[in-house]
Amino acid sequence: MTQDILSVAHDNGVAWVTIDRPEVRNAFDDHLIAELTATLRELDGRADVRAVVLAGAGKHFSAGADLTWMQRMASFGWDDNFADSQALGELMHTLNTLAQPTLARVQGAAVGGGLGLVACCDIAVASDRAVFALTEVKLGLIPAVIAPYVVTAIGERAARRYAVTGERFDAHRAHDLGLVQEVVPEAELDTYLATILDTLRENGPQAMRGAKRLMRDVARVPIDAELRRETARRIADQRASAEGQEGVAAFLNKRTPSWRDH
Ligand code: COA
Repeated sequence: MTQDILSVAHDNGVAWVTIDRPEVRNAFDDHLIAELTATLRELDGRADVRAVVLAGAGKHFSAGADLTWMQRMASFGWDDNFADSQALGELMHTLNTLAQPTLARVQGAAVGGGLGLVACCDIAVASDRAVFALTEVKLGLIPAVIAPYVVTAIGERAARRYAVTGERFDAHRAHDLGLVQEVVPEAELDTYLATILDTLRENGPQAMRGAKRLMRDVARVPIDAELRRETARRIADQRASAEGQEGVAAFLNKRTPSWRDH
């Protein structure tokens, strides 16, 4: 599937989703938000897609919300603005909860909502020349719908600082904050991603989805009896599953598990 503002390429079980509006630094308006949300929903849970990479065409990952669209929306009523903002929230939620592992490939600027997209991915790899900022306050705005994902990624304290200052920070600071997990020279971005994708291809596809959901579900909830029952239930289910049995049998019989043949 390919649109003029978004492209999707499939490579050996990995879907590469590329925002393709380099003329506005991959800023997203209502059309792009709708296309990206629909694309992610279509990929969500597909058995033939083991991982999803989110990238931006050109020199930058994404300049966040399209400001000409924001300006246009401001002349509409409150209900339209609310519905429009909910659509952006739905995009972030869809990416954040995608069943498969997600990777952000970050070069250039990841600003505002662009930074939000990075925060929604499981793994983020940045070029050493990448820059980040929550610039909303510089425009008299606030980083609202991305806030929960930013706070989850970098913690409340750092989020408070960068949300109120709008300061730019570089890839190394983003790494220190936990917003990105790896910083590599720009020319090595794809090689590094390929290494991670090879690692993901070795893992049980259902197990990765279960592990991802598990981490999200146990975060920020009390470790009480109910949670302990729930985690026990999840491993009991996975052990008894075809994939769990295949993985353990393959290890004990010193052979590769069947999912690696596909
Ligand atoms: N919305 C709409 N258009 C945008 C945009 C955005 N968020 N970001 C960039 N553009 C447009 C510019 O207006 C410019 O249009 P023009 O060619 O018609 O003049 C074009 O993209 C190139 O922008 P430019 O600033 O010259 O590119 P750059 O490569 O020097 O810098 C950025 C890239 C992303 C660092 C810079 O464009 C920027 O800071 N953008 C604003 C990002 C922002 O604050 N987003 C938060 C929104 S809440």
